[in-house]
Amino acid sequence: MTDATFADLGPILVVIPTYNERENVELIVGRLRAAVPEAHVLVADDNSPDGTGAIADGIAARDDHVHVMHRAGKEGLGAAYLAGFAWALEHGYEVVVEMDADGSHQPEQLPRLLDALRDADLVLGSRWVPGGSVVNWPKHRELLSRGGSLYTRMALSVPLRDATGGFRAFRAETLRAIDLSDVESAGYIFQVELGVRAVKAGLRVREVPIEFVERELGSSKMNQRIVVEALWRVTVWGAQDKAAKARRLLAGNKAPTRGGW
Ligand code: GDD
Ligand code: MN
Repeated sequence: MTDATFADLGPILVVIPTYNERENVELIVGRLRAAVPEAHVLVADDNSPDGTGAIADGIAARDDHVHVMHRAGKEGLGAAYLAGFAWALEHGYEVVVEMDADGSHQPEQLPRLLDALRDADLVLGSRWVPGGSVVNWPKHRELLSRGGSLYTRMALSVPLRDATGGFRAFRAETLRAIDLSDVESAGYIFQVELGVRAVKAGLRVREVPIEFVERELGSSKMNQRIVVEALWRVTVWGAQDKAAKARRLLAGNKAPTRGGW
């Protein structure tokens, strides 16, 4: 691979949130640096007790494309990404990528996302479009993910097949357009909130197939609180969406408005 494959897109930052990813952080950054050499990396670590932050510092000391954000404590995936996005915009990156640290999102597939971003505003790596797949994922996680996307599609009237996935490429303009100042989500539902905002803002959201591989090292941070937050948020947003539609109908105004978004 040549060094400037995606130079036309402008500078790229891959934000990798970490919480207790000691066994994974070096591997994932190494794979990413090999797969897309021109991309910069920001590890957003929530003061992991297992020392992930210090390992990331070691990588950054050897590689000027690698940066580390040390956050005070575990505040959830959404908060870590918002801080990472703000850093990206401050530093002039034109493309901002979300990617998990545990190898589930394969850096070797990032070029697919970047290529699709050439005629999109947001690209979602998708497990649930033709060509997408999961490897070694427990059945209950697959059901939760498929069910979550189906519920999101129905409650919020958005055409997204994989609404909860976390392997994504945004244009910097997209992040500016969807106004990050009032994002509500703390946990994984953050992904749904951002995707829906992009759709409702009329931006071009494309899904490209990815193969999601269950982690081999460390453990998932998914828990019941994250699921409960996801369920109630989609339900509340769905009610707000319907109320806004009803108000528009009553007002005789057919023009689309932001309605809760
Ligand atoms: N900084 C920070 N703070 N990072 C976090 C936190 C947090 O509170 N919680 C999780 N992470 C990081 C993990 O260290 C990992 O790099 C990434 O976020 C994903 O966490 P996992 O715990 O591995 O998620 P998963 O595999 O169970 O969930 C996958 O599926 C979800 C549903 O589709 C991921 O792809 C999620 O992004 C996705 O929403
Ligand atoms: Mn994972």
